[in-house]
Amino acid sequence: MSPKKSVFITGAAAGIGRATALSFARNGYVVGAYDLDEVGLKTLSKEIEDLGATAVTGHLNVTDADEMAQRVGEFASAAGNRLDVMINNAGILIAGRFEEIAVTAHHKEIDVNTKGVVNGLHAAFPFLRATPGAVVVNMASASAIYGQAELANYSATKFFVRAMTEALDLEWKRYDIRVIAMWPLYVQTAMTADVRTGTTDSLGIRLTAQDIADDIVAAVDPSLARRLIHQVHFPVGSQAKTLAVGARFSPAWLTRLVNKRLAHS
Ligand SMILES: NC(=O)c1ccc[n+]([C@@H]2O[C@H](COP(=O)([O-])OP(=O)(O)OC[C@H]3O[C@@H](n4cnc5c(N)ncnc54)[C@H](O)[C@@H]3O)[C@@H](O)[C@H]2O)c1
Repeated sequence: MSPKKSVFITGAAAGIGRATALSFARNGYVVGAYDLDEVGLKTLSKEIEDLGATAVTGHLNVTDADEMAQRVGEFASAAGNRLDVMINNAGILIAGRFEEIAVTAHHKEIDVNTKGVVNGLHAAFPFLRATPGAVVVNMASASAIYGQAELANYSATKFFVRAMTEALDLEWKRYDIRVIAMWPLYVQTAMTADVRTGTTDSLGIRLTAQDIADDIVAAVDPSLARRLIHQVHFPVGSQAKTLAVGARFSPAWLTRLVNKRLAHS
């Protein structure tokens, strides 16, 4: 019998991470669910076990490189010295006009959304390399298509995730590691519950965490056609798909104008 596949998910206690953890559990994976929120992890662990799957959970602050290395190492060894999928999902969002947000809050957002991803990639690499056909999923966002007003710093962190994904997709091909990014537009989670910007007004908050989880599961095990075109970025939902295609094919002035209008700025 072939060994069970394993997935490590950061920020798994709530929102997209939680829905993703449950979806991989339904697909028979050993699920490593890590978060700052240990109460949320406890209920998640029970839900995963109720599905007949195995959960390994633990405290993790993604900004702490040592804790990340410790947790990833512990999980890989609990999962039989393999790591099939690494999902760098944990993130925070602070909305508002750039100058009205404290610089310390901007720094925190950069730490979680960018350094947290670097820490996850670094810690996971030796285990991904040792696992045939391993995949990294980074949570980017539709805000990595064009810089977003009232989300400037958040949007910039997602451009970082986009660049990291593109570069490591190229670098890690030699190790048979796929590196991909998910690009959802606004999703109904705690992250967006109190957010109101020009673009939330014009585009709404339509996606559910389960929509993203379903697309992550599909992207990890893609169709032959998607494998042949070597898809790296996965916009989620029709709005993000339209914006991504539009930005690719329209002139820069038009892309700017569309984003200006959508942001009411
Ligand atoms: N919600 C959206 O509209 C949306 C859209 C596009 C992309 N995303 C991205 O999806 C990811 C998940 O977002 P979500 O909507 O599920 O958010 P959420 O707030 O519902 O959940 C985020 C989880 O991450 C955890 N977390 C926060 N900081 C952490 C840290 N330092 N270390 C470990 N865990 C930490 C939280 O405790 C929480 O459980 C983020 O990267 C986010 O930027 C979200």
